[in-house]
Amino acid sequence: MSEYRTNILIGSAVVLMSKTIAVWGSPRSGKTTFSVKLANAIYNRYKTNVVVLFTDITTPTMPVLFPSAKRDTLFSVGKVLTKTDITVDETIKNLVLIKKKANFGVLGYLCGENKFTYPRFDDVKARELFDVLKTLANFVIIDCMSNLDDSVLSTVAVGEADEVIRLASPDLSCLSWYLSQLPLVAGAERHIQGINVPDADICAPVSDVRSHLGEVSFTLPFSREVKQQFYEGKLFDVVSDKKYNTVIGAIADKVVV
Ligand SMILES: Nc1ncnc2c1ncn2[C@@H]1O[C@H](COP(=O)(O)OP(=O)(O)O)[C@@H](O)[C@H]1O
Ligand SMILES: [Mg+2]
Repeated sequence: MSEYRTNILIGSAVVLMSKTIAVWGSPRSGKTTFSVKLANAIYNRYKTNVVVLFTDITTPTMPVLFPSAKRDTLFSVGKVLTKTDITVDETIKNLVLIKKKANFGVLGYLCGENKFTYPRFDDVKARELFDVLKTLANFVIIDCMSNLDDSVLSTVAVGEADEVIRLASPDLSCLSWYLSQLPLVAGAERHIQGINVPDADICAPVSDVRSHLGEVSFTLPFSREVKQQFYEGKLFDVVSDKKYNTVIGAIADKVVV
Protein backbone atom coordinates (compact mmCIF):
# COMPACT_ATOMS: atom_id res chain seq x y z
CA MET A 1 0.00 0.00 0.00
CA SER A 2 2.66 2.52 0.98
CA GLU A 3 4.63 1.76 -2.17
CA TYR A 4 1.55 2.47 -4.22
CA ARG A 5 0.91 5.68 -2.36
CA THR A 6 4.40 6.99 -3.00
CA ASN A 7 4.43 6.04 -6.65
CA ILE A 8 1.04 7.37 -7.37
CA LEU A 9 1.70 10.70 -5.75
CA ILE A 10 4.98 11.05 -7.60
CA GLY A 11 3.09 10.23 -10.78
CA SER A 12 0.48 12.88 -10.22
CA ALA A 13 3.13 15.47 -9.46
CA VAL A 14 4.82 14.84 -12.79
CA VAL A 15 1.78 14.99 -15.00
CA LEU A 16 -0.23 18.19 -14.85
CA MET A 17 -3.58 17.11 -16.21
CA SER A 18 -5.60 14.11 -15.27
CA LYS A 19 -8.55 12.86 -17.24
CA THR A 20 -11.88 11.34 -16.23
CA ILE A 21 -13.53 8.85 -18.57
CA ALA A 22 -17.10 7.73 -17.90
CA VAL A 23 -18.26 4.43 -19.38
CA TRP A 24 -22.02 4.27 -19.71
CA GLY A 25 -24.59 2.41 -21.80
CA SER A 26 -27.42 -0.05 -21.86
CA PRO A 27 -27.80 -2.86 -19.30
CA ARG A 28 -25.40 -5.77 -19.96
CA SER A 29 -23.74 -3.98 -22.84
CA GLY A 30 -20.38 -4.81 -21.24
CA LYS A 31 -19.63 -1.57 -19.35
CA THR A 32 -17.76 -3.18 -16.47
CA THR A 33 -15.68 -5.45 -18.68
CA PHE A 34 -14.93 -2.56 -21.01
CA SER A 35 -13.90 -0.28 -18.11
CA VAL A 36 -11.36 -2.81 -16.87
CA LYS A 37 -10.00 -3.55 -20.33
CA LEU A 38 -9.73 0.13 -21.22
CA ALA A 39 -7.89 0.77 -17.94
CA ASN A 40 -5.55 -2.14 -18.73
CA ALA A 41 -4.90 -0.78 -22.22
CA ILE A 42 -4.15 2.74 -20.99
CA TYR A 43 -1.96 1.39 -18.19
CA ASN A 44 0.06 -0.90 -20.46
CA ARG A 45 0.40 1.40 -23.46
CA TYR A 46 1.14 4.63 -21.61
CA LYS A 47 2.90 3.30 -18.48
CA THR A 48 0.76 5.62 -16.44
CA ASN A 49 -1.32 5.34 -13.27
CA VAL A 50 -5.01 4.55 -13.40
CA VAL A 51 -7.92 4.25 -11.01
CA VAL A 52 -11.21 2.58 -11.92
CA LEU A 53 -14.31 3.49 -9.92
CA PHE A 54 -17.15 0.98 -10.11
CA THR A 55 -20.35 2.77 -9.20
CA ASP A 56 -22.78 -0.17 -9.27
CA ILE A 57 -24.64 -0.31 -5.94
CA THR A 58 -27.31 -2.74 -7.19
CA THR A 59 -24.90 -5.48 -8.27
CA PRO A 60 -21.72 -4.61 -6.36
CA THR A 61 -18.71 -5.10 -8.60
CA MET A 62 -15.95 -6.08 -6.18
CA PRO A 63 -17.20 -9.65 -5.63
CA VAL A 64 -17.52 -10.08 -9.40
CA LEU A 65 -13.99 -8.87 -10.10
CA PHE A 66 -12.34 -10.57 -7.13
CA PRO A 67 -14.42 -13.66 -6.41
CA SER A 68 -11.75 -15.41 -4.37
CA ALA A 69 -10.38 -12.41 -2.48
CA LYS A 70 -10.56 -12.50 1.31
CA ARG A 71 -13.03 -9.98 2.60
CA ASP A 72 -10.40 -8.08 4.59
CA THR A 73 -8.39 -7.39 1.42
CA LEU A 74 -11.28 -5.51 -0.18
CA PHE A 75 -12.61 -2.08 0.79
CA SER A 76 -15.70 -0.11 -0.08
CA VAL A 77 -16.08 3.23 -1.80
CA GLY A 78 -19.17 3.64 0.39
CA LYS A 79 -16.91 4.14 3.38
CA VAL A 80 -14.94 6.87 1.62
CA LEU A 81 -18.15 8.68 0.72
CA THR A 82 -19.39 8.73 4.32
CA LYS A 83 -16.57 11.06 5.38
CA THR A 84 -17.46 14.71 5.90
CA ASP A 85 -14.44 15.60 3.81
CA ILE A 86 -13.02 13.09 1.38
CA THR A 87 -9.29 13.06 1.94
CA VAL A 88 -6.53 11.64 -0.22
CA ASP A 89 -5.36 9.46 2.67
CA GLU A 90 -8.77 7.95 3.34
CA THR A 91 -9.26 7.27 -0.37
CA ILE A 92 -5.88 5.60 -0.72
CA LYS A 93 -6.63 3.44 2.34
CA ASN A 94 -9.71 2.11 0.58
CA LEU A 95 -8.22 1.60 -2.87
CA VAL A 96 -7.91 -2.03 -3.85
CA LEU A 97 -4.60 -2.54 -5.60
CA ILE A 98 -4.20 -4.86 -8.52
CA LYS A 99 -1.56 -7.52 -7.98
CA LYS A 100 1.65 -7.05 -9.94
CA LYS A 101 0.47 -3.70 -11.28
CA ALA A 102 2.00 -0.77 -9.41
CA ASN A 103 -0.19 2.34 -9.60
CA PHE A 104 -3.35 0.55 -10.64
CA GLY A 105 -6.16 0.90 -8.10
CA VAL A 106 -9.89 0.24 -8.05
CA LEU A 107 -12.78 1.36 -5.87
CA GLY A 108 -16.24 -0.09 -5.70
CA TYR A 109 -18.95 -1.58 -3.55
CA LEU A 110 -18.62 -4.87 -1.67
CA CYS A 111 -20.64 -8.05 -1.59
CA GLY A 112 -23.91 -7.58 0.29
CA GLU A 113 -23.89 -3.79 0.20
CA ASN A 114 -26.89 -1.88 -1.12
CA LYS A 115 -28.24 1.66 -1.19
CA PHE A 116 -29.14 1.48 2.50
CA THR A 117 -25.68 0.41 3.70
CA TYR A 118 -24.30 3.94 3.77
CA PRO A 119 -25.87 7.38 4.23
CA ARG A 120 -27.09 9.07 1.07
CA PHE A 121 -24.77 11.60 -0.53
CA ASP A 122 -25.23 14.32 -3.12
CA ASP A 123 -23.57 15.51 -6.32
CA VAL A 124 -21.20 17.78 -4.38
CA LYS A 125 -19.79 14.76 -2.58
CA ALA A 126 -19.50 12.84 -5.87
CA ARG A 127 -17.48 15.70 -7.35
CA GLU A 128 -15.32 15.77 -4.25
CA LEU A 129 -14.48 12.08 -4.76
CA PHE A 130 -13.69 12.60 -8.45
CA ASP A 131 -11.40 15.52 -7.56
CA VAL A 132 -9.48 13.40 -5.08
CA LEU A 133 -9.20 10.53 -7.57
CA LYS A 134 -7.83 12.98 -10.12
CA THR A 135 -5.03 13.89 -7.74
CA LEU A 136 -4.17 10.19 -7.42
CA ALA A 137 -4.15 9.03 -11.00
CA ASN A 138 -3.68 10.42 -14.47
CA PHE A 139 -6.67 8.45 -15.74
CA VAL A 140 -9.83 7.92 -13.73
CA ILE A 141 -12.26 5.54 -15.39
CA ILE A 142 -15.78 5.48 -14.02
CA ASP A 143 -17.91 2.42 -14.72
CA CYS A 144 -21.43 3.92 -14.58
CA MET A 145 -24.80 2.35 -13.90
CA SER A 146 -27.20 2.20 -16.84
CA ASN A 147 -30.01 3.66 -14.77
CA LEU A 148 -28.68 7.04 -13.74
CA ASP A 149 -31.50 7.47 -11.21
CA ASP A 150 -29.84 4.74 -9.17
CA SER A 151 -26.48 6.43 -8.85
CA VAL A 152 -25.35 9.98 -8.07
CA LEU A 153 -21.79 8.98 -8.96
CA SER A 154 -22.92 7.82 -12.40
CA THR A 155 -25.07 10.89 -13.02
CA VAL A 156 -22.25 13.29 -12.21
CA ALA A 157 -19.74 11.22 -14.21
CA VAL A 158 -21.91 11.05 -17.33
CA GLY A 159 -22.67 14.75 -17.06
CA GLU A 160 -19.19 16.03 -16.31
CA ALA A 161 -16.43 13.55 -17.22
CA ASP A 162 -13.87 14.71 -19.76
CA GLU A 163 -14.92 11.85 -22.04
CA VAL A 164 -18.05 9.73 -22.01
CA ILE A 165 -17.87 6.40 -23.82
CA ARG A 166 -21.34 5.04 -24.48
CA LEU A 167 -21.69 1.32 -25.14
CA ALA A 168 -24.44 -0.46 -26.99
CA SER A 169 -24.80 -4.14 -27.70
CA PRO A 170 -26.27 -5.13 -31.07
CA ASP A 171 -29.65 -6.41 -29.93
CA LEU A 172 -33.21 -5.18 -29.93
CA SER A 173 -33.56 -4.64 -26.19
CA CYS A 174 -30.50 -2.41 -26.26
CA LEU A 175 -31.99 -0.37 -29.09
CA SER A 176 -35.29 -0.06 -27.27
CA TRP A 177 -33.44 1.04 -24.13
CA TYR A 178 -31.54 3.72 -26.06
CA LEU A 179 -34.58 5.06 -27.86
CA SER A 180 -36.30 5.36 -24.48
CA GLN A 181 -33.44 6.60 -22.27
CA LEU A 182 -31.16 8.68 -24.46
CA PRO A 183 -33.60 11.62 -24.76
CA LEU A 184 -33.42 11.96 -20.97
CA VAL A 185 -29.67 12.55 -20.92
CA ALA A 186 -28.20 16.02 -21.48
CA GLY A 187 -25.03 16.34 -23.56
CA ALA A 188 -25.48 13.01 -25.34
CA GLU A 189 -24.13 14.51 -28.56
CA ARG A 190 -20.62 14.69 -27.11
CA HIS A 191 -20.53 11.00 -26.12
CA ILE A 192 -18.30 8.57 -27.97
CA GLN A 193 -20.70 5.88 -29.16
CA GLY A 194 -19.35 2.36 -29.44
CA ILE A 195 -20.78 -1.06 -30.09
CA ASN A 196 -19.63 -3.94 -27.91
CA VAL A 197 -20.56 -7.54 -28.61
CA PRO A 198 -20.88 -9.21 -25.19
CA ASP A 199 -22.28 -12.55 -26.34
CA ALA A 200 -21.31 -14.99 -29.08
CA ASP A 201 -24.92 -15.65 -30.05
CA ILE A 202 -26.04 -12.05 -30.51
CA CYS A 203 -27.44 -11.89 -34.00
CA ALA A 204 -28.98 -8.45 -34.65
CA PRO A 205 -27.01 -6.86 -37.48
CA VAL A 206 -24.59 -4.21 -36.28
CA SER A 207 -25.75 -2.08 -39.23
CA ASP A 208 -29.25 -1.85 -37.71
CA VAL A 209 -27.81 -0.54 -34.50
CA ARG A 210 -25.69 1.95 -36.37
CA SER A 211 -28.66 3.32 -38.24
CA HIS A 212 -30.46 4.04 -34.96
CA LEU A 213 -27.59 5.28 -32.86
CA GLY A 214 -26.00 7.59 -35.38
CA GLU A 215 -22.25 7.90 -35.63
CA VAL A 216 -20.55 4.85 -34.15
CA SER A 217 -16.86 5.31 -33.36
CA PHE A 218 -15.87 1.69 -32.78
CA THR A 219 -17.09 -1.89 -32.72
CA LEU A 220 -15.46 -4.05 -30.07
CA PRO A 221 -15.75 -7.71 -31.04
CA PHE A 222 -16.86 -10.62 -28.90
CA SER A 223 -13.89 -12.37 -27.33
CA ARG A 224 -14.25 -15.82 -25.81
CA GLU A 225 -11.07 -15.23 -23.85
CA VAL A 226 -12.47 -12.06 -22.26
CA LYS A 227 -15.68 -13.86 -21.36
CA GLN A 228 -13.64 -16.62 -19.74
CA GLN A 229 -11.59 -14.10 -17.77
CA PHE A 230 -14.76 -12.47 -16.52
CA TYR A 231 -16.12 -15.72 -15.16
CA GLU A 232 -12.80 -16.69 -13.60
CA GLY A 233 -12.31 -13.32 -11.91
CA LYS A 234 -9.23 -12.63 -14.03
CA LEU A 235 -10.34 -9.57 -15.95
CA PHE A 236 -7.21 -7.62 -15.01
CA ASP A 237 -5.02 -10.18 -16.80
CA VAL A 238 -3.77 -9.46 -20.31
CA VAL A 239 -5.73 -10.78 -23.30
CA SER A 240 -4.02 -12.42 -26.25
CA ASP A 241 -7.01 -11.95 -28.58
CA LYS A 242 -5.54 -9.78 -31.35
CA LYS A 243 -8.78 -8.40 -32.76
CA TYR A 244 -10.01 -7.38 -29.34
CA ASN A 245 -6.66 -5.81 -28.43
CA THR A 246 -6.44 -3.82 -31.65
CA VAL A 247 -9.80 -2.16 -31.04
CA ILE A 248 -9.38 -1.52 -27.31
CA GLY A 249 -5.87 -0.18 -27.98
CA ALA A 250 -7.21 2.27 -30.55
CA ILE A 251 -9.88 3.45 -28.11
CA ALA A 252 -7.22 3.97 -25.45
CA ASP A 253 -5.18 6.06 -27.89
CA LYS A 254 -8.24 8.13 -28.76
CA VAL A 255 -9.10 9.01 -25.16
CA VAL A 256 -5.56 9.50 -23.92
CA VAL A 257 -4.53 12.18 -26.39
N1 LIG B 1 -16.37 -7.97 -25.94
C1 LIG B 1 -16.73 -8.96 -25.11
N2 LIG B 1 -16.41 -10.24 -25.40
C2 LIG B 1 -16.82 -11.25 -24.62
N3 LIG B 1 -17.57 -11.10 -23.53
C3 LIG B 1 -17.92 -9.84 -23.18
C4 LIG B 1 -17.52 -8.71 -23.94
N4 LIG B 1 -18.02 -7.60 -23.35
C5 LIG B 1 -18.69 -8.03 -22.26
N5 LIG B 1 -18.64 -9.36 -22.16
C6 LIG B 1 -19.33 -10.23 -21.18
O1 LIG B 1 -20.72 -9.89 -21.13
C7 LIG B 1 -21.22 -10.02 -19.81
C8 LIG B 1 -21.79 -8.68 -19.32
O2 LIG B 1 -20.72 -7.78 -19.21
P1 LIG B 1 -20.63 -6.68 -18.07
O3 LIG B 1 -19.31 -6.02 -18.25
O4 LIG B 1 -20.95 -7.24 -16.73
O5 LIG B 1 -21.81 -5.70 -18.54
P2 LIG B 1 -22.47 -4.46 -17.79
O6 LIG B 1 -21.43 -3.92 -16.85
O7 LIG B 1 -22.84 -3.51 -18.88
O8 LIG B 1 -23.65 -5.01 -17.07
C9 LIG B 1 -20.06 -10.54 -19.00
O9 LIG B 1 -20.07 -11.94 -18.99
C10 LIG B 1 -18.86 -10.04 -19.77
O10 LIG B 1 -17.65 -10.70 -19.56
MG1 LIG C 1 -21.49 -3.58 -14.77
